[in-house]
Amino acid sequence: MTKTPEKVRDEVSDLRKRIEHHNHLYYTLGSPQIPDDDYDALMSRLVELERKHNLATPDSPSQRVGSAPADSEGFGEVKHELPMQSLDKVSDKQALFDFETRIGKRLQAAETETGTDFELIPDSTPDSTSDPTTAQLEYSCEPKIDGVAVSVLYRRGLLQRGATRGDGVTGEDITHNVRTVRNLPLHIPALKNTPQLEVRGEIFISKPGFAELNRRSEAEGGKTFVNPRNTAAGAVRQLDPAATARIPLQMYCYGVGFTEGFNLPDKLDEIFTLLESFSLPVNPDRAACKGVSACLDYCLDLLARRDSLDYEIDGAVIKLNSRTMQQTLGSNVRSPRWATAYKFPAEEKSTTVLDVQFQVGRTGTVTPVARLKPVFVGGVTVSNTTLHNMDEIERLGLRIGDRVIVRRAGDVIPKVVKVIDPEPKTKTKRKKITVPQKCPACDAPVEQDGVLYKCTAGITCPAQRKESIRHFASRTAMDIEGLGEKLIEQLVDAGRLSSVKDIYTLKAEELADMERMGDKSAANLIAAIDKSRQTTLPRFLYSLGIREVGEATAQGLANHYGTLEAIAEADEDALEQVGDIGPIVAKHIAAFFANKGNQALIKALRKQGMEWPDIPVSQAAEKPLAGETWVLTGTLERMTRNEAKARLTALGAKAAGSVSAKTHCVVAGPGAGSKLAKAEELGIEVIDEAAFLSRLKKLENT
Ligand code: IVH
Repeated sequence: MTKTPEKVRDEVSDLRKRIEHHNHLYYTLGSPQIPDDDYDALMSRLVELERKHNLATPDSPSQRVGSAPADSEGFGEVKHELPMQSLDKVSDKQALFDFETRIGKRLQAAETETGTDFELIPDSTPDSTSDPTTAQLEYSCEPKIDGVAVSVLYRRGLLQRGATRGDGVTGEDITHNVRTVRNLPLHIPALKNTPQLEVRGEIFISKPGFAELNRRSEAEGGKTFVNPRNTAAGAVRQLDPAATARIPLQMYCYGVGFTEGFNLPDKLDEIFTLLESFSLPVNPDRAACKGVSACLDYCLDLLARRDSLDYEIDGAVIKLNSRTMQQTLGSNVRSPRWATAYKFPAEEKSTTVLDVQFQVGRTGTVTPVARLKPVFVGGVTVSNTTLHNMDEIERLGLRIGDRVIVRRAGDVIPKVVKVIDPEPKTKTKRKKITVPQKCPACDAPVEQDGVLYKCTAGITCPAQRKESIRHFASRTAMDIEGLGEKLIEQLVDAGRLSSVKDIYTLKAEELADMERMGDKSAANLIAAIDKSRQTTLPRFLYSLGIREVGEATAQGLANHYGTLEAIAEADEDALEQVGDIGPIVAKHIAAFFANKGNQALIKALRKQGMEWPDIPVSQAAEKPLAGETWVLTGTLERMTRNEAKARLTALGAKAAGSVSAKTHCVVAGPGAGSKLAKAEELGIEVIDEAAFLSRLKKLENT
């Protein structure tokens, strides 16, 4: 349905008001309430409507970069000699190629008009005149750092003025804060005869710097900061430079503004080299690229490296390398024609918490999970995420119905990082989150245990039952191939599995009746179940799902005691003598074996034919690998690294992380690299996983 002209005008006026409001929050108060992407969406919609309906006016926020800076609030004004512009953006390959086509055409037209020769058409292909993209334009490609744009002016080599971008024409004088930026020289001797050189760049906080800042702040009982960008934005606008100096601000220069008495090279990459020679910080991850395809490769490579970079980025910036060409192309109202930002998926987005539900895990912990209005963030669609515990909900001040900022960086679990201040009219719909009194899976009472809440039913709770069976059958436990989550779910729901011991009474015929099962897979599963009857003590211990007992602890227990009976009889004090077992784990182990139900379970499993060899308990002095240092490298396919380490340790060896002349043996799996090469160079014994396993077995049985 097309909108009436009044409706369009109303929407435009509403968009302008909202954008001005957010400009004020962002630029003037330094406290943005919505993520960049939401802001960009508002701006794009406004630009689209204004263009389509011819509604642009000189005072529309679409015609400006930001909002007017604060005046009487403590900051002086700085008029930028040259405007500080913004960048147009693209977010896919086609738009990037269109960018090159666009500038190629403009440059060609300028060649014809002015007679300048930009050497756009390579001599060897005179026929390609109609395709300017064959020109192989040169670009400077740079990470687009997510920080704060600033201008820094050096007069005769002295840092004399720092300013924010403000509205692009007038910024705020933040010289006192810019002086606190760690990697920015206050004095550049080589510029002592240069009346003025203004550099522009991005002030930011590195990821390690931010983590350290939060660690420090927490240790001092202060608040933790939500993200590096907002923290940097707040810090540059601090009135007290001593407070700013506590924030580890850094800067990378990405261009030169106004100059006086200074000869700038024509090429941007040469300018960067020159700035570096003055000890000005320039991003080392930049690259000069020929042709837009090479720029695209740069962008994709940078995106792949995003997580491993030391600083947060929201894209790449692609700039024409030649300043002469830049000047020929000139600018639009907001941005230069010679550059564009290649945007990456945002790592923070806003969405709504539709509901908070509680889930029960294997150990009975009742965890709050937020159901979100699906949102594309950090490259995936997120519709739910754990809220961890009630303390976290309290810390966030979260209620159902709230708009929140969700962050997903790299492969980490998405996280609700902030509740966006609710607007007054939505306040009434917010619903308080309360812990259920009864377990959502079995109705048993829920009890508080520190910051956690737990279902009190234990193994009879179906959620705990399903989880404990899944854990028992998993690869690192009993390794029953074919007994996956979906099948366990069906078998538990059908009443065929209520405990792990029932696994050993399953029949091929009943399995074949289950969804997505046939005779063949049923027979395979029965064979896998059968095979799992012959196991090892550490695997069996780990499979039992004793709280806090992972593979390494299970291995340590098995090595120390040698038999299940000895472990079951050990009291808490005795258990604490084992390797890395502390009082809490010792308590869980002792409580597990004291429980009558668990004793019955172990008895029943043995009755079903489960067996394992006891482990001979050797004295430390007699340990066969005592004093040896072993190194594991590459992938282990038949055991986990923790298991391998625990078995080595039990035999008296030390498992080290690097190869040296002191290394006795290196176990190299597929993918081994430099450690293997070093071992070969030093003539150290190298064995593969199969040889390692047979060596372990032999030694463990001596
Ligand atoms: S060039 C005229 N290069 O991105 C071009 N900007 O909207 C001016 N930014 O606020 C910008 N890294 O602060 C440029 N390597 C980079 C950048 C970069 C981050 C920021 C800049 C500006 C925004 C562009």
